[in-house]
Order: sequence, then C-alpha cells, then structure tokens
Amino acid sequence: MLLSRLNNRLGRACVLALALTALAAPALAAEAAKTAKAPAKTAVLLVTFGSSHAGALDQIKRIEPEVKAAHPGVEVAWAYTSEKVRQILAQRGEKLDSPPEALAKLQAQGVKRIVVQSLHVIPGAEFHDLAREAQAFARQGKDLRVAMGWPLVSDTNDLQALARIMLQAATPGRQPDQALVWVGHGTHHPAGVAYPALAFALAQVDPRAYLGTVEGYPSFDDVRGQLQAAGVKAVKLMPLLTVLGEHSKQDIAGDDADSWKSRLTAAGFTVTTDLTPVAGYSGARDLWLGHLAKAMQELQTEKSGQAKPAFKAK
Ligand code: CO
Repeated sequence: MLLSRLNNRLGRACVLALALTALAAPALAAEAAKTAKAPAKTAVLLVTFGSSHAGALDQIKRIEPEVKAAHPGVEVAWAYTSEKVRQILAQRGEKLDSPPEALAKLQAQGVKRIVVQSLHVIPGAEFHDLAREAQAFARQGKDLRVAMGWPLVSDTNDLQALARIMLQAATPGRQPDQALVWVGHGTHHPAGVAYPALAFALAQVDPRAYLGTVEGYPSFDDVRGQLQAAGVKAVKLMPLLTVLGEHSKQDIAGDDADSWKSRLTAAGFTVTTDLTPVAGYSGARDLWLGHLAKAMQELQTEKSGQAKPAFKAK
C-alpha cells in the first residue's frame, strides 16, 4: 500500500517536472524525457456478461464514473464475456469486445498494468474463463502485469455485506406482509455453492428473505416450499443479476406460465416485482469497487497476492 502510494506520487512528480521543463526549455525537456522513467500506463478492464436488451446495461454502466473517481488517471475499458450476446449485437452492427480483444487493444495503446475487474455475481464459469484469458494475456509480454478483481460474492464477508445491501435495497416499496424473494442465475460450476450460502446470510438478516435460482440450486420448488412452510402470503420478487436482460424479463417476471411470477401466483401468492438489477444497488457497486481497489493494490505492490489470481508475466 505504502509502496503503491509512493509510486503514484513519484509518477505524478515526474509528469509535473516534465511539464514544467517543457514550458521552460524544450531541449532540456527532451533530455529529461530520455532519462526520466515514465510511469507505466494503468487501465481497468470492466467485464460483464452483456445483454442484447436495450437499456440492460444502464445500471452497471454507472460503475464507470465511480471507478474513474476512485482511481484518477486510470484508463477504463469494457469487455463482454457472452459470445452469444456479442454475436447478436454484431448482427445489428454493434461491435463489443471480448476480454482478449479488449486486452489486446489496451496493450496496443501502451498500457502495461491492467486490473481485470469481473462484474459477475459469483466466481463461476464466466469468471474462471476470464481469469484463464487474463493469465494467457499476461504471459505474452515480459513487462505486463495483470491482476484480477473478484466478482460480487467471493468470500463470507461479501455474503454478509451483500445480504445487508439487498435487504436495504428491497425496503422501499415493501409492503409489511411481503416476504422478499431474489432469483439469481444458478450454475453447475462448483462456485454455485455461493447461492445457498447467500440464502443463509439473507435469512440471518431477515427470516422472510429468500433466494432461488433460474438454472440451479436452490430451485423454484425449494423456495416455494420454504414460503409455504413459513405461511407467507405475499411476495416481492426481484432478480439477483448484474444486468436487466432475458432472465429477468422472461424467466422471473414474464407473463408466460413458467415464469417465477406466474408459478408463484398459481401457487396462491400475491406477487409484486422489482426488476432493478443488482448493479442498480449502489452498495453492490461499492462491493465491486472494493474488490477492484484490492486488485489495484496487488498490481502496484511487488508481491502479488498468492491465493488470488493476480498474474505477473515471468
Ligand atoms: Co443464462
């Protein structure tokens, strides 16, 4: 931490000195430029799954000015992990970068230090694929340093913090008799254990708060069973997804008979929905920003964190 601050100060001092010298005497400035070591360019690559729905990324895009405010002077770029989403948008003439494409562009711009910040919810398949791509990229250049920023829920502190953030976000507009039900994505990846863990953390903050998943465990039937056992009559239904896309609009709140809303209604519950994606919770963005700050620190100190995927080209 101290080392990184020192480096930052030295870097700024160099830039300032060069600027002043340049005003005074161009020849001297050229001489100084030869000897002064320019600070390595640093970038943050923000990586999300993506969505082809209009406005789906509005909430997650709010993190960009927050990143810039927290790390002044750092370049910010975006990449999207979903190949399907990138293909759909390409057909509409909208070109989005995959993580390797975005990393290559940053390298071409002379960026040497990059934090790859995952904006996924759990460290599942998308995150691990991204980490592998970042590692492969870091091996390409001797002078490249790449650190990974963890997804939203990456340890038990995150679980507890996110549970409080979720409860706070759900409070406005909650009717007194309403139980809260969030629906996450779900996965067969080992990191899917984060969902029942988060459900436990939620129940500790509010016993009438539940979490299920679209494609994994806990399932719809698990949550319905819990609601029935608790004698719940009314439910506020919300997504636990980074962006507002297909899963929220169809699988959770859609009018088709197989959506969560329709099935809960058919089971006798009174249901209201709030489709604000988790990226719309300022506290959730703060959690991601905290992970980014840690990765930035790992990037700037000599010893990269061993347990975390911080990559340095050998
Ligand atoms: Co999906």
